Amino acid sequence: MIESKRMIVEKSPEQAAAKATDIFKSIVLETLEQRDVCNLALSGGTTPRSMYHHLADHALGDVIPWSKVEVYFGDERDVPQDDVESNFGMAQRVLLDHAPIDWSRVHAMRADAEDIDAASREYENTIRRLVPAGPNGIPQFDLIMLGMGGDGHVASLFPHTDILEEPQRLVVACHVPVLGRNRMTFTFPLINAARNILLLVTGDDKAEVVERIFKQGDQALPAARVAPQHGTMHVVLDTAAARLV
Ligand code: 6PG
Repeated sequence: MIESKRMIVEKSPEQAAAKATDIFKSIVLETLEQRDVCNLALSGGTTPRSMYHHLADHALGDVIPWSKVEVYFGDERDVPQDDVESNFGMAQRVLLDHAPIDWSRVHAMRADAEDIDAASREYENTIRRLVPAGPNGIPQFDLIMLGMGGDGHVASLFPHTDILEEPQRLVVACHVPVLGRNRMTFTFPLINAARNILLLVTGDDKAEVVERIFKQGDQALPAARVAPQHGTMHVVLDTAAARLV
């Protein structure tokens, strides 16, 4: 049972990124009114890049008390941090290097580790140690950002992969056959324990999968299974992605 879900459609990808930035900002500020620390997870891919540019904007740097923000990543590719494909690398270049961040509070996923499974367990242990548990006893992020692929994957939860059914683990290492690569990713138990989920999706190439998820509720598509049990889902689309809903 989702506590609440809201869908916002903006005219352009830029306006959608600006709207998502506002939602990000308000969630962080609301959280810090009630707690000393805001625990959030950034997403990878190309879509959040313009949003990270907005967040890196100095004006916002004064508004968001970045030193009170713990930054995690929802998933990562099996590449070094300085690789162009690295989700951490992108966020660092576009946002984290330009915000008054406390680097001891930034938690990169080491999906390029020799033993990626051990690295995923270590990341999970860090989350269990530092992120307070929510009503269901699972660490409750204040905000988890997600993007979505044209095949309906979120984070690195791809269609027809076993980890979609993972009941216990919060962070796992996985092989993604369709990419022929390894990834590290949050699982649904952790994602759906969040207080807020911000899903940002733009572009005409995602219109059909958006329709299957938000109109048909097609559970074969991982994004359709994003349902925060004790939280709010904020879906921000541009008109091109929302064309069929
Ligand atoms: C990743 C992401 C992934 C991403 C989608 C959408 O590591 O690739 O976390 O889930 O959000 O693939 O990617 P685009 O924004 O590039 O379309």
